[in-house]
Amino acid sequence: MHESMKRREFIKSAAFAGAAALMSHQLDNLEAVGAQQRPAFKPVVISSHNGLVATAKAMEFIKQGKDALDAVIAGVNIVEDDPNDMSVGYGGLPNEDGVVELDASVMHGPTGRGGAVASLRNIKNPSKVARLVMERTDHVLLVGEGALRFARAHGFKEENLLTDEARNAWLRWKENLSNEDDWLPPHDVETKNIGEGLKSALRNTGTINCNAVDLQGNISGVTTTSGLAWKIPGRVGDSPILGAGLYVDNEVGAAGSTGRGEANLLACSSVMIVEFMRQGKTPEQACLMACERIVKQTKMKRLLDEKGRPKFNVNFYAINKRGEYGAAAIWSGSKFAVNTGEAQSRHEECAYLYKREPRN
Ligand code: GLY
Repeated sequence: MHESMKRREFIKSAAFAGAAALMSHQLDNLEAVGAQQRPAFKPVVISSHNGLVATAKAMEFIKQGKDALDAVIAGVNIVEDDPNDMSVGYGGLPNEDGVVELDASVMHGPTGRGGAVASLRNIKNPSKVARLVMERTDHVLLVGEGALRFARAHGFKEENLLTDEARNAWLRWKENLSNEDDWLPPHDVETKNIGEGLKSALRNTGTINCNAVDLQGNISGVTTTSGLAWKIPGRVGDSPILGAGLYVDNEVGAAGSTGRGEANLLACSSVMIVEFMRQGKTPEQACLMACERIVKQTKMKRLLDEKGRPKFNVNFYAINKRGEYGAAAIWSGSKFAVNTGEAQSRHEECAYLYKREPRN
């Protein structure tokens, strides 16, 4: 590197470190300081509705000057470890054989890297394994047995992830199978009442997506899930697919999703949302545009109601480099969690395309 360049870089990074320390201090006193002293980068953490604790933990890390990826992973680990969240990690609802299979992805904006795992069994923190795929392999996505062997090689302990509550829920489903599974006989685009596969659209696809801007203005994100309840073994949703369930561009922002992964896999919405934001859309506008695209792309009648609207829901969450945030869903009623520097996170309503009519 040229000497003057080195010096410039050094001055820049020294100024940066000082600024980060100052920002961290300022954040503790946001109300007390004048607008002029506010941090150059507005930190923010956003997540799906189940991320109140996760976003608060992530913001705590960010206020300590930590990297956004460390922050969001620490946040979602709480949800992965929580047996009461039946859509993520330990206690997640299993596949149709009663086995919990987890998917996760991470993206680190400043280094432009990403990693993911899919159909990972017996390891309760797939987000940590996804990070290791990013940092300790030349690959981006590991699946199934290979992902498990990789996790074992890095010292992850195998454990039974199926709680009694999740097993009982699975057993109830198994005992009442009727036609509510995911196997469909041959059918065409006009077929409406088939296999009740549409019910899979309404089954649990809970997930946590969490994205953050840190004090350095760097952006990272994570998405982690046990996927669709009672899925066909090996089914992978959108969560571990970069561009679909998560996307980060450090120059622009981040986006992620929860809800029916099959719909989002066909649209790759997260990368689309980031591109919409690059073109000047707000995070909320970009998320709404992704919802519109999914509606337009959904042509199979079995997935549409009598008005031609999707029976399922997909939710998107986005932040941009300026610390602005927004979220949207196809259907009304979804909330997201957000933290802009407070000790406690809050819920806000997602924007939406269609208002759910009250059920009788
Ligand atoms: N969006 C999570 C999933 O479909 O697996």
